[in-house]
Formats: sequence, C-alpha cells, structure tokens
Amino acid sequence: MRRKLVVGNWKMHGSRPANADLLSALRGGRPYTATVAVCVPFVYLSETAATLAGSDIHWGAQDVSAHAQGAYTGEVSAAMLAEAGCRYALVGHSERRALHAESDMLVAQKAQAALACGVTPIVCVGETLAERESGLTEAVVKRQLSAVIHQLTHCAAEMVVAYEPVWAIGTGLTATPEQAQAVHAVLRAQLQAATGHGQTMTILYGGSVKPDNAATLFAQPDIDGGLIGGASLKASDFIAICRAAH
Ligand code: PGA
Repeated sequence: MRRKLVVGNWKMHGSRPANADLLSALRGGRPYTATVAVCVPFVYLSETAATLAGSDIHWGAQDVSAHAQGAYTGEVSAAMLAEAGCRYALVGHSERRALHAESDMLVAQKAQAALACGVTPIVCVGETLAERESGLTEAVVKRQLSAVIHQLTHCAAEMVVAYEPVWAIGTGLTATPEQAQAVHAVLRAQLQAATGHGQTMTILYGGSVKPDNAATLFAQPDIDGGLIGGASLKASDFIAICRAAH
C-alpha cells in the first residue's frame, strides 16, 4: 500500500509573519496519516526548516537549476537545496513551462540534478484545455513523462509525479475524480513499463484541490495525494486536505 503524500505549493506568496502562522498551525495539526510537505520560495527555506525541525513535516523548493554550479545568475542548485534540508523540489510546474519556456528536456535535466543530490523531484505534467479538447491529453502527459524517464534511467522510480491539468490550476475547475483517475492510470502504466516499480511510485493530483473535493480525489485507486496551490496558503484548508489523505 502506498502512503499518501500532500504537498503545498506556495508559489510566490508569503511573508515572514504569515509563514510563521501557517507553519505553526500546520505543525500543531499533527499527526497526519499522510506524508506532508510544503514547497516554499527559496528565501523562506531556512526559516521553514527552523520552524519544522523536529517534526515529520518536510519542506522543499519550487524549482531547481539543471546545473551543478557555475555562472548561472539567479539560479539555485540542488546541492544548495540539499544543504537547506529540502526533501523535495518541484520541477516542470506548468507555470514554469509556460512562463519560462521550460522544455521537456530541461525539466528532465532538473529532475536529474535534484536526484543526484538526494532531493526528490516532483515532476509536474499536464495538458492545456486546447490539448484536452483535441484529444491529446494522453499523448502530452506521456511525452512529458517519457523525457524524464529517459533522463533518469535506472533512478526513474525515485521521482514523484504530479498530474496537474493546466486548465484546473488556480481556476476553480477541478478534473473530476474519474478524469484524474484515467490519466493517473495511464501514467502508472507508463512508469510500470519503464521502471518495473510503477505500483510503488507516488502520483499526485493537482489543480484546484480544496477541502470539499480532496477526499473523493484521494479515494481514486491511482491518486496518491495532492499538490495543493491556493488552498495550501490557508492553514485550516490545508490541514483539512492533509487529513483527507489517509
Ligand atoms: P491550485 O494550484 O491548487 O491553486 O490550483 C495547484 C498547483 O499549481 O500546483
């Protein structure tokens, strides 16, 4: 049986006082049956680490450089994330693919850089509304995942995958549990075929997960938890979603 995982993605939100409140509420909400983590802006990693130290809640970053070190102004390496105690790094979030033109290959290289430093990449895949309406959902997510599988080769089973339909992110539109499950089953079959470990790998759903829809989504056989954006910023909502995962 796979243990559920719930990851908050704060995106570019937060402030020191707000983070302190949110993180202590999250700490106070323990115990959770699921594994819980928050992916915060880089500058907040050390205070997040300080607040969560000694708890079983993990933290991570929202991006990572594909490069190990060097003249890459503005980038943050996986070794730095490891030093900051990061368990996870999001890679290939649709906002980065769209706003920063991240290619499948770059996303794959970032995933590899993270793993090389012991940071688990949470690889985000997902189709746009136009792609879904053209019947391309499967082809798109398989292509995105395939690039990472090929790059990671024998380590591919160590990644976490997050299916996030672009049309459901921040829009209030959620994939129905059936729509999400269908894509998760495709991804799991692809992971199984490529790594032989598909049955033990974690596949998260993300896109307008809220306290009132989390339990139904998480009850689907191939949905192992969630990647939570907007609702991870409100302690009571995020805690409710974490509790819905068991
Ligand atoms: P949302 O974002 O929950 O606000 O839709 C999810 C994400 O982008 O990871």
